[in-house]
Amino acid sequence: MNDDFIQLIMTRTSIRAFLDKPVSDEMVETLLKAAMAAPSAKNSQPWAFVVIRDRALLEKLGNSLPNAKMTATAPVAVVICGALDKALPGEAREYWIQDAAAATENFLLAVHALGLGAVWTGVHPISERIKILKETLKLPEGVEPFCLIPFGWPAVPAAVKDKWDPSIVHQDVW
Ligand SMILES: Cc1cc2nc3c(=O)[nH]c(=O)nc-3n(C[C@H](O)[C@H](O)[C@H](O)COP(=O)(O)O)c2cc1C
Repeated sequence: MNDDFIQLIMTRTSIRAFLDKPVSDEMVETLLKAAMAAPSAKNSQPWAFVVIRDRALLEKLGNSLPNAKMTATAPVAVVICGALDKALPGEAREYWIQDAAAATENFLLAVHALGLGAVWTGVHPISERIKILKETLKLPEGVEPFCLIPFGWPAVPAAVKDKWDPSIVHQDVW
């Protein structure tokens, strides 16, 4: 068992305040590689990423999305998108959402592994947020914003939560 990795999972927490300190392109590439390593239905990899470093854009998003205000003061953010042309046909199409969520969690864990901090801010399926991101980032048809992750060097110490609850675990049958 890799105790360090389990420890990493257990200590990840949302970070919503960032130092005024840049994040290198190399680090961002590592995070994107981690996201793209996620499992996806039939290995369809129905995702695309928009990395935002432009100050004016970060401020515009932070000011227009009340749930993601911290974007305005983050050095960088990523929007994880569904690439719907790669989604599976028929009923399985909606798996793209789970695939994007898996990529998002991989991204967040990699953020934590590098000593950075981040918060998953929800976009899909809230139509007003989807509209703001589509317009602001000029997303083409078929590219669906799934979440917005502002990230950077943490300005606050992590407050780790203990979420373990054995009462919600059932054995064999409910
Ligand atoms: C689908 C989803 C949407 C979320 N949306 C927001 C959001 O809009 N703004 C925010 O500050 N945090 C958001 N979060 C972060 C949660 O508030 C956070 O994960 C939760 O409170 C547990 O805290 P932890 O991440 O520190 O363990 C979201 C998380 C998920 C999984």
